[in-house]
Amino acid sequence: MKLKTKDLLTVDEISSKEFLELIDFSIKLKKENKTVKEKPLLKNKTLAMLFGKPSTRTRVSFEIGMLQLGGHTVNLSLNEMQHSRGESVEDTAKTLSRYVDAIVARVYEHSFIEKLAKHATVPVINGLSNSYHPCQTLADLMTIKEHKKKFKDLKIAWIGDGNNVCNSLIFGCSKTQTQIVIATPKGFEPNPEVVKKSSKYTVVDLTTDPKSAVKDADIVMTDTFTSIHMSDPKRTEKFLPSFQVNDSLMEKAKNDAIFMHCLPAKREQEVTSSVIDGPQSVVWDEAENRLHTQKALLLSLLSI
Ligand code: CP
Ligand code: NVA
Repeated sequence: MKLKTKDLLTVDEISSKEFLELIDFSIKLKKENKTVKEKPLLKNKTLAMLFGKPSTRTRVSFEIGMLQLGGHTVNLSLNEMQHSRGESVEDTAKTLSRYVDAIVARVYEHSFIEKLAKHATVPVINGLSNSYHPCQTLADLMTIKEHKKKFKDLKIAWIGDGNNVCNSLIFGCSKTQTQIVIATPKGFEPNPEVVKKSSKYTVVDLTTDPKSAVKDADIVMTDTFTSIHMSDPKRTEKFLPSFQVNDSLMEKAKNDAIFMHCLPAKREQEVTSSVIDGPQSVVWDEAENRLHTQKALLLSLLSI
């Protein structure tokens, strides 16, 4: 499949039809993993990976994904590039475009990746900015499709911080018409424009009450209370104890509800060990699916 967009920065660039196709394509790639390894569809293609923040899953899954498809990666730390000495994003984008077939970047300000995409002539993928994490959404919705076999008539309860992962997830819900309820303390809500836009396509509810949010939920999701770009050491106190996903909160969701977390997790803060390491948790499938969705994404952006 070929995506109409050149870049993936938020999730909203992809149509609902394309999003659903991308999820099914990812599931197909996962099933046919062996065949794809034998058929290097990205032979001699190159991906520059720019990291301005730490990463385990994003970095390794892109690197291994390219390797499995026969391509190559160039792993770059932003603070070792000339950008750290003042070279502009525009010049960085134009230079890299002359060497590689695609760029993935993990950055602080979302405007950085927007500028990178604007000036690069090759596809640019957001590997997480302060505002969005589209690759995570693809893996999350793939995991839901695998475990629940559908999107419609499902309810996701997001508990905690209305952050970058949450913003892209809301767009993902709008593409798949999955209902989402977001429970945050006051002042920690997701981007209101994302909520407003997505509400045209699906139910997006905001609340400050985690217990009501998880009632009848099919999926309970959370993320760290302190994202990489947050520095306030007292931030966690604003969420505890009510916004911790623990056994008592999970009991209020449906009996067959699954628990999801993009990882890395801080056990006994946003989630207890009993939940993340318990029978309802699908976090390792979720982490694995980063690999399959990113392979599907790379193939779709590079029109193979
Ligand atoms: N979920 C996620 O993006 O993990 P990393 O920060 O390890 O890449
Ligand atoms: N919200 C987290 C996600 C990490 C994958 C962060 O931005 O640090």
